[in-house]
Amino acid sequence: MSNMRTQLSFAPPSDIQTELLAVAAIDTQTAKGPDAKPLPELLTADPAVRAAAAAVLASGEFKAGANETLLIHAPTGIKASRLLIVGLGKQANVAVNGVRSAAGTAVRFTKPRAIRELVFALPDSPLLPPGPCTRAAVEGAFVGDFDPDTYRSDRKDQSIQSFTLAAPVAADQPALGAAFAEGVIVGESQNFTRSLVNEPGNKLTPTILGQRAAAMAAEVGLKAEIHSTEKLHELKMGAFWSVSQGSAQPPALIVLRYEPEGVTSGPVLGLVGKGITFDTGGISIKPGDKMEKMKYDMAGGAVMIGAMRAIALLKPKVRVIAVVCAAENMPDGKAYKPGDVVTAMPLTPDKPGKTIDVINTDAEGRLVLADGLTYARQLGATHILDAATLTGACAVALGTINAGAFSNDEETWARFDGALATSGEKFWRLPLGDEYAELVKSDIADIKNTGGRFGGASTAAEFLRVFVEDTPWIHLDIAGLAWIEENKPFIAKGPSGVAVRSILEWVRKYRS
Ligand code: BES
Ligand code: MN
Ligand code: ZN
Repeated sequence: MSNMRTQLSFAPPSDIQTELLAVAAIDTQTAKGPDAKPLPELLTADPAVRAAAAAVLASGEFKAGANETLLIHAPTGIKASRLLIVGLGKQANVAVNGVRSAAGTAVRFTKPRAIRELVFALPDSPLLPPGPCTRAAVEGAFVGDFDPDTYRSDRKDQSIQSFTLAAPVAADQPALGAAFAEGVIVGESQNFTRSLVNEPGNKLTPTILGQRAAAMAAEVGLKAEIHSTEKLHELKMGAFWSVSQGSAQPPALIVLRYEPEGVTSGPVLGLVGKGITFDTGGISIKPGDKMEKMKYDMAGGAVMIGAMRAIALLKPKVRVIAVVCAAENMPDGKAYKPGDVVTAMPLTPDKPGKTIDVINTDAEGRLVLADGLTYARQLGATHILDAATLTGACAVALGTINAGAFSNDEETWARFDGALATSGEKFWRLPLGDEYAELVKSDIADIKNTGGRFGGASTAAEFLRVFVEDTPWIHLDIAGLAWIEENKPFIAKGPSGVAVRSILEWVRKYRS
């Protein structure tokens, strides 16, 4: 993980001796039209810093667009050897989320220039609440510090060694200290998820994912149980096993428990993740083009593992159980086949499990989740949230801008929707409904595992709903966002860690 040392300072930015001081700016121009020139303004009250930037801001060269940067070498009147100005965009659009990106942009500006330390001035503006901005800036700095090139022999580790957030002296120092500590935990946890998602299928088998989860659990004080084939048979997880049976790699059923002291009543939140460490499609094999990307098909599982790390360290007063179903989906003589009928795990031993008509072995995620959802309920989950790189259809519908979300319960959804305001992540609610459920009815069994091309994200969600029944539930389809195709100023291309922050905030909405 990142070696970035972080600290919070209340010294005036102009007094801090550093390689690089980054300060945010907004465009205060409110008029529109061709004559309305940008009016950039620095978000710091420090007069020496404002003076150092005055000439370049007056020049019109810098428009303070979102994540726009401008570097001033040897600025006069301040102790830093460089002053970096980072745009937050138009004043009307300024929000905490922009501060997260701006801090990431400052880090990613600094990294390739062989500068190892940076001070980011907390934007000082009545538009921006200092606590949430402190947390967001630290999160953004960690997210920006991550690069995916871990297997390059000539890798230059360009990680920032020291990140300082400089907050105004007049700030509520204990409150900002707490927000800062939270930001470190959340940023590190999101990067932990990203480091798992980044691993290739040969380096991160289901077994190794289980070991990584167990090691993390031991570090942060979570209970962990890592099961494999035998347990799947014992629990009669016929759907999960059918996906795994064609692989030489055994499956891993990863269970992490967070049980805060003194909390013996109230909700038990179940987090269920799809952990397909590689998805070839199985016998319904995928085309070769871009198949290598299917190493990220365990992102939903990695999100739950990262979220549990953050939960263990932030200690909300609510019980949480994570269930990650990890397997490799392979074609083989032992693999499951289209037309097979498999029996999912029964909720209680006296009841039969639901039968599933396998139409397409590439719709494997919903099969492992079917048993994961049932197991979470059997373990006592009263509310369930699952995350999965479940359907290409969701990515087609929403692009790489919003991830998909579904829910069978308005109250549960309201909490998740509220969590998005803090996390800054974009999820768009998509429909469930009986008409979609119709499309996954089977001629031979209780349900079939595909509902056709049209409405594929919703029919997949209806498939999952069969296994949650009336348990309040949210399903997140992160297929389009778990992997970023292009570098952005504030985040490297590669694994995004999307959903870690939103799930954490959702969980915190239940704390007593
Ligand atoms: N892992 C894929 C979904 C996916 C696609 C994730 C692209 C990320 C990027 C999933 O297992 C899958 O193959 N889904 C099929 C379902 C279909 C067979 C009903 C799909 O989306 O095509
Ligand atoms: Mn698949
Ligand atoms: Zn898949």
